[in-house]
Amino acid sequence: LMTAAAAAIVATGATTAQAQCDEGEMVIKFSHVTNTDRHPKGIAATLLAERVNEEMNGKACMEVYPNSTLYDDDKVLEAMLQGDVQLAAPSLSKFEQFTKGFRIFDLPFMFKNIDAVDAFQNSETGQAMKESMVRRGLLGLAFWHNGVTQISANKPLISPDDAKGLKFRVQPSEVLKANMESLGASPQPMAFSEVYGALQTGVVDGQENTWSNIYGQKFFEVQDGITETNHGVIDYLLVTNVDWWEGLDEDVRNQLSTIINEVTEARNSESFKVNEEAKQAIIDAGGEVRQLSAEQRQAWVDAMKPVWETFLDDVGQENIDAAQEFNA
Ligand code: LMR
Repeated sequence: LMTAAAAAIVATGATTAQAQCDEGEMVIKFSHVTNTDRHPKGIAATLLAERVNEEMNGKACMEVYPNSTLYDDDKVLEAMLQGDVQLAAPSLSKFEQFTKGFRIFDLPFMFKNIDAVDAFQNSETGQAMKESMVRRGLLGLAFWHNGVTQISANKPLISPDDAKGLKFRVQPSEVLKANMESLGASPQPMAFSEVYGALQTGVVDGQENTWSNIYGQKFFEVQDGITETNHGVIDYLLVTNVDWWEGLDEDVRNQLSTIINEVTEARNSESFKVNEEAKQAIIDAGGEVRQLSAEQRQAWVDAMKPVWETFLDDVGQENIDAAQEFNA
């Protein structure tokens, strides 16, 4: 049985895309878990490496390891603190051990769309979040977008009651677990690279993710269909080790920082489009996409929104209010 990650490597030849680092160049390893094409993070990581390798040639060399080929997200932050990897971009749901502040991004129906997420991240509150884990050794360099999440299972999901009693893979986040429990479903935290196999063998019945991840991991092949709920958000923090970052020569850090900011701006503004293309690719490949009427969608909102109350103290009413303003 080939894992989805392994299948994706075969499909894209991703591991062959390594830069050849020259002697004397500082090696920057960037580990992530998704595929490289038709994926906001995959495309951004590749572009970042291309620019660094061209513009910083002789000084720095970036190697990107996609598809969980170097680390799963549950290992990468530890590896970063050990100095074994310099860049990663785990989803905001994967920082639970470092901060509870990111829980706002996992609350269901918090953000209307990725533009609202973008505006919140660019607010003073959002920008401060990048530095919220410095004491723990991690520095956020940029927020990178994926998009809003959809839900799928091995049976049609139209009413929230349809999810009752089913097992859903979730990212390791207390909020995401509570979301599933609010539906009467059973959450199963699991690494991204294991999801395809778990869906295929029936270890779990369903999952939630963005179009680009559902497409990239081919989840639609082993699910009955995908319901377009837009109920959550998967977004990333491009993160590094504080000591490594501060130890860089100032000109190197500035140049890297400028490239990161330019790549972030260029790719974040395309993330919606990349997900729409992935959605179309799912449909073209024969995947079933189900739309909800406004009334049907409201039933999901009513079922899940009580989770906000549970995490109010972690997240802060003032932050929820700020986030809601960007939905207007
Ligand atoms: C997931 O685990 O489902 C996502 O965080 C994967 C990713 O990096 O988009």
